[in-house]
Amino acid sequence: MEKILTLGIETSCDETAAAILRGGRELLSNVISTQIPLHRKFGGVVPEIASRKHIVNIMPVIDEALTTAGVKLRDINQIAVTKGPGLAGALLVGISAAKSLAYALNIPLIAVNHLEGHIFANFISTPELEPPFLSLVVSGGHTALIRMLDYNRFELLGQSRDDAAGEAFDKIARVMGLPYPGGPEIDKLAKLGDATAINFPHPKVDGYDFSFSGLKSAVLNFLNTAQMRGDTIVAADVAASFQKTVVDTLAEKTLSAADEFALDKIVLAGGVAANSSLEQTLRTACRNRGLKFFYPSKILCTDNAAMIACRGYYQSLTGDFADATLNAVPNLGL
Ligand code: KG4
Ligand code: ZN
Repeated sequence: MEKILTLGIETSCDETAAAILRGGRELLSNVISTQIPLHRKFGGVVPEIASRKHIVNIMPVIDEALTTAGVKLRDINQIAVTKGPGLAGALLVGISAAKSLAYALNIPLIAVNHLEGHIFANFISTPELEPPFLSLVVSGGHTALIRMLDYNRFELLGQSRDDAAGEAFDKIARVMGLPYPGGPEIDKLAKLGDATAINFPHPKVDGYDFSFSGLKSAVLNFLNTAQMRGDTIVAADVAASFQKTVVDTLAEKTLSAADEFALDKIVLAGGVAANSSLEQTLRTACRNRGLKFFYPSKILCTDNAAMIACRGYYQSLTGDFADATLNAVPNLGL
């Protein structure tokens, strides 16, 4: 039997993306049109501008995904689209395109949770990966530990009670005068600094929940106090010390969850998975404990439609389809 072709569509934030996936794991194309330069001068994503730009980009991006994959629209068997979480107006652009195409082609539509999509990016990067495993999802809007029992069965072990890890990276970077998005900038700067220079308090939260707002305030206070006193701030040391506190917190909780649930595979996912220190720390810790460690290739860490197509494919295997009443769910949880 010919393998199923899934068109994935993602417009939840500031990337307009489309991808074609054959079967569950063979990526034929992965087109991402980023709006980052457009939002940079505002220091963050402007929702209205994001929606407008998605409208302009969506059909050309889908066209390019088809052309690169060498397939025609009529060859597509199903369409997977992000239904949330994300910006309402931005999500609706992708959803409207997906609905119209599915209706015109008379093919099934699949509504995908963006956060689940981030986890599934790993199945494309590592085709031999299979559940069960423990996944740490760290993105701009979410931080969560998930026990993946099977492709369509997850258990949320814990999540952030306030700021997500990526949000903390972006806010600190902004105050330090670094461009948007701040995560990659802090990552770069931290390489030049001493991570033991400043002792920021480690967030203390029970169980597998996270909290980064206290740490964020501590860093902001440190910067303000230094500025008022006229002390010289070594920005690289601040970046390195802050980053180490976040990374250690994430790694600690992840390793104890792996221990408690006797899971021998740890899977990193989401935009912050691109952080070099997080990747190295988890890789080393896993090696020392005899655990297997997986994380997506850089291009599949941040927002993309390949991960949405992959998640959608596995939903389709259980008949989990959407209909024309599909709407955006901006605050969709895991
Ligand atoms: O998953 P993603 O692309 O979008 C959301 O779904 O939120 O994640 C974006 C987040 C941003 O906060 C960005 O600063 C962060 O991922 N990020 C990083 C790095 N690359 C991206 N954070 C730390 N280090 C990085 N190298
Ligand atoms: Zn994301």
